[in-house]
Amino acid sequence: MAQEVRGVVSREKDAPVAVETIVVPDPGPGEAVVRVQACGVCHTDLHYKQGGISDTYPFLLGHEAAGVVESVGAGVTEVEPGDFVVLNWRAVCGQCRACRRGRPWYCFDTHNAAQPMTLADGTPLSPALGIGAFADKTLVAAGQCTKVDRRAAPAAAGLLGCGVMAGLGAALNTGGVGRGDSVAVIGCGGVGTAAVMGARLAGAARIIAVDIDRRKLDTAARLGATHTVDSRATDPVEAVRELTGGFGADVVIEAVGRPETYRQAFYARDLAGTVVLVGVPTPEMTLELPLLDVFGRGGALKSSWYGDCLPSRDFPMLVDLYLQDRLDLDAFVSETIALDDVEGAFERMHRGDVLRSVVLL
Ligand code: APR
Ligand code: ZN
Ligand code: ZN
Repeated sequence: MAQEVRGVVSREKDAPVAVETIVVPDPGPGEAVVRVQACGVCHTDLHYKQGGISDTYPFLLGHEAAGVVESVGAGVTEVEPGDFVVLNWRAVCGQCRACRRGRPWYCFDTHNAAQPMTLADGTPLSPALGIGAFADKTLVAAGQCTKVDRRAAPAAAGLLGCGVMAGLGAALNTGGVGRGDSVAVIGCGGVGTAAVMGARLAGAARIIAVDIDRRKLDTAARLGATHTVDSRATDPVEAVRELTGGFGADVVIEAVGRPETYRQAFYARDLAGTVVLVGVPTPEMTLELPLLDVFGRGGALKSSWYGDCLPSRDFPMLVDLYLQDRLDLDAFVSETIALDDVEGAFERMHRGDVLRSVVLL
């Protein structure tokens, strides 16, 4: 039987989001219904509301979530009712050209639920990133559920579903940070701070946090940065070079998503070093660089989509590190809020007051 539950819906561009009754169908073949326990508030949810991602309103927002599988449809073998899961937006298909080449973290045909969730009047909802988890329950493809150790706090574990994974993966997967490396992270919000933690997990010797907000630098220092640079007061390229023997960092992670910070990342990197772009630019942004510098400085310029993560490989491992006190996911949870406070959380996010607000259900 389809169920009526509460969900946070964005009905039209820029209008405040509201808690509404939504209809969650029973899971069909390959689908699962998940009782959501916690869901973080991400920039992408705000971008949906602002029409920056598509115009297929109404949206059911929320996508950084953990919960318990309630029911599964025919043919589902990867999870069963009662499993504690983190939701992901990379349910790999196994068949596209990336999957067949053994690089499923680039999967070009990821799975979502086939049936729509709807408003009470039957209007189909577009779930954010194919998830829609600011809701008591949500319908997803079974492959979007990654089983992890149930001893983890849902508010912390759920954050692995998006921004925190993006930052950790930018350092661990895309950047390939290794023991003894020097790393600079430009922009230390939720994503950049996770990149700082990833660099620390990987054994980086020097981790330089760069931001224009003193509060963010203090948090980054508490969570693993060995040096901080306030780029409002100091030229970050000069500062990173000074802190690395005059050369630049081995890996520079850009976690803002702007041309000027990308340029800083490009020049704050040592010869043959790596730049990782994990911040997401907007369509009108362009980048101009001397092509001779791109050639002459060598190395690698990479982008990191979702931290190049493979949920089935990375989520259980990171939850285990969390449970062993080696990865402080709790530090990202600035506040826990109720379902009807998502609009307020967007404002706090916009002001830079929080790393993450997390809705508890
Ligand atoms: N130089 C350095 N830091 C900057 C600059 C700048 N010019 N402009 C902004 N910042 C800092 C902010 O002070 C903030 O700490 O970048 C950080 C951005 O953090 P958040 O707003 O919390 O965003 P976050 O969730 O970390 O995401 C960062 O990655 O996933 C994408 O869409 C997301 O593009 C965004 C980026
Ligand atoms: Zn695929
Ligand atoms: Zn997100």
